[in-house]
Amino acid sequence: MSSAQTPVRWGIIGTAKINAKLLAGAATVEGMEVAAVASRSAETATAYAREMGIPRAHGSYEALLADPAIDAVYISLPNSLHHPWTLASLRAGKHVLCEKPYTRLPEEVEEAWAAADGAGRVLQEAFMWRHSPQTRRLLELLPRIGPLQIIRATFSFPLGDPADVRLQPDLAGGSLMDVGCYTVSAARLIAGEEPDRVHGEQLVGPSGVDLRFSGLLHFPRGITALIASGFTTAHQGLEVVGRHGSLFVPDPWHARSGTILLRTEAGEEAIHVPFRDPYGAELEDMNAAIRGEDRPLLGREDALGQATTIAALYRAAETGSAVTLG
Ligand SMILES: NC(=O)c1ccc[n+]([C@@H]2O[C@H](COP(=O)([O-])OP(=O)(O)OC[C@H]3O[C@@H](n4cnc5c(N)ncnc54)[C@H](OP(=O)(O)O)[C@@H]3O)[C@@H](O)[C@H]2O)c1
Repeated sequence: MSSAQTPVRWGIIGTAKINAKLLAGAATVEGMEVAAVASRSAETATAYAREMGIPRAHGSYEALLADPAIDAVYISLPNSLHHPWTLASLRAGKHVLCEKPYTRLPEEVEEAWAAADGAGRVLQEAFMWRHSPQTRRLLELLPRIGPLQIIRATFSFPLGDPADVRLQPDLAGGSLMDVGCYTVSAARLIAGEEPDRVHGEQLVGPSGVDLRFSGLLHFPRGITALIASGFTTAHQGLEVVGRHGSLFVPDPWHARSGTILLRTEAGEEAIHVPFRDPYGAELEDMNAAIRGEDRPLLGREDALGQATTIAALYRAAETGSAVTLG
């Protein structure tokens, strides 16, 4: 059967702000439909479904998981709820695309992917930046700058609302969790291995989560990565320095600018990459995996590397000492 004949039927758990971007991405993808949304409140679910043009509304997450006409769920709940609702979704027989960061606890990654394997369902952590053509192009360009030496990755934005889920310790907030996880993802992807030693410094705000986090990751083959995240200023960028030049990506995470600057002895060259909605690309990847056409881009190993590194960075910042891994 063609993908057009068998659309993957998606349900969304929660009425999060980020859903709007996923829905815009879904509109660019063939062979899927967003068939239902769930909220903790029936009224919210109904109003949200009407506003977003989603056919069915469920007044509890459990009701959506019991909906037999849903194949896969998108979980965009606050961070501390990713793991329990992923397990519940897998138990209900659904495939799962769960927002980043899946967790900072490696044992939760092990438990979740074991459950997915056991249920024969696809589980992926939603790092949309990994699905961008711009990210693929960056990887292709790495040989142009010679042996890699330093990676520098930042992602921060000003966060004003004290009620935001990102500032709540019981919901696993914090800047390293929220946006620093992208910088960790970039460092690990570009280094091509897992770090063996990390250092961290954090500025903890009144609610008890890090408002700023700076880290240094050392990789076994000698590359070092400097990462920084925060809720206090707007800044982002990804730079890779090699022995013979450097690559700079001004808009690495959303890839809207589609520009990579290659700097070598020959001068600076701006390389342009056509935009593809990263949320749409992520959903295409999930749909192909659900149909058994391909493996998901990101699986257990990547989620485990993420959680292990994030946990080590927080431990380093809390203790003031380097943390050795592996
Ligand atoms: N990939 C990306 O580009 C991207 C961008 C932004 C955020 N994210 C991730 O997406 C997730 C959601 O972020 P967001 O900013 O969109 O969140 P948000 O707008 O605050 O929404 C979270 C939703 O979770 C539900 N919820 C359940 N228990 C809750 C609780 N105790 N407190 C608050 N909400 C609760 C609520 O839905 P109901 O009330 O309907 O149940 C709420 O609408 C986070 O994991 C974040 O890291 C990813």
